Amino acid sequence: MTTDPTKEIAQLEAEATAALEGATDLAALEECERVAFRSKRSRFSEMHQNLGSIAPEKRRVLGRLLNELRARLESVADGRRVELVAAGRAERLAADRLDLTEVLPGRLAGHLHLVTQVREALEDVFVGMGYEIAEGPEVETGWRNFEALNIPEDHPARSPLDTFYVDFGEPWSVLLRPHTSPVQIRLLQRGVLPIYAVVPGRTYRKDTPDSTHLPVFHQIEGLVVDRGVTFADLKGTIDTFVRAIFGEGTRTRLRPGYFPFTEPSAEFEMSCVICGGEGCRTCAGVGWIELGGCGMVHPAVFEATGVDPEQWTGFAFGFGIDRLAIMRHEIADLRVMTENDVRFLGQF
Ligand code: DAH
Repeated sequence: MTTDPTKEIAQLEAEATAALEGATDLAALEECERVAFRSKRSRFSEMHQNLGSIAPEKRRVLGRLLNELRARLESVADGRRVELVAAGRAERLAADRLDLTEVLPGRLAGHLHLVTQVREALEDVFVGMGYEIAEGPEVETGWRNFEALNIPEDHPARSPLDTFYVDFGEPWSVLLRPHTSPVQIRLLQRGVLPIYAVVPGRTYRKDTPDSTHLPVFHQIEGLVVDRGVTFADLKGTIDTFVRAIFGEGTRTRLRPGYFPFTEPSAEFEMSCVICGGEGCRTCAGVGWIELGGCGMVHPAVFEATGVDPEQWTGFAFGFGIDRLAIMRHEIADLRVMTENDVRFLGQF
């Protein structure tokens, strides 16, 4: 060593301390530590390696000085690290800060929830086709929900494992509706014909939340009853609203299905929004996505509500609004609908 080692140590300390304290993020700090003393090619390491070539008594003193220097530099680096982590956290908190004031001078902050937006889009399409928007209560009788819809006593949907029953009246006679179909019964009971109605609303099932299920979700029901209504009218109606919501290029198809309150019954599907029908992960390779159920109103439903099946025919359909919304916006998980995360909600 040509220069005075104590001076060199002091100089190294001054420079390294300044660099460490000036580091503006964690990566820069790590780089400064490397250059100052961690890397084998740092000046510090060089001095350490040179210890071997100097006289033993000087070596002891210098070795101690170098060890002390290293300890001081490590403590400077640790101090800076604590500062940077805290600053990063404060920055993230500031960026995630929410303005919870609902009303700002002159304007309402926030906007309708995605599910409400999709419900309104559906309502617009059906109003455009001359339908009325109807509603029914979320707490419903078992009779309207099951019996009048021709759903047999032993149907699994009637089990308290699937449906929330309400402690009211006769045991198992009142429930949180698991579908919007009981509103069909209310519309038919009104006795005003013909009927062209859609019924959006909240529905409840004992399902554990996962990417495709929520215990509280939304459906929209359609009911048309008129003279001479045919299955072709049903198909045309489904095709029209799916194209209005998903775009003109979307195709629909019906597959045979079974529902107690329709005969014949079908499940309706649309061409996959992601791949257009080619087959991809979203549609499990089949090119089609199931949307809901439909069919011609079963004579037993007319009978239960006092409508003459000789004069009137009808079709019905029903499907999940939340599910439709995640399809429309290519969202992978239904649960985001209820998490109230503004980073999600703000995107729509
Ligand atoms: N209510 C059925 C469900 O929740 C859906 C449904 C199927 C509604 C066929 C209908 C229909 O109106 O005709 O799974």
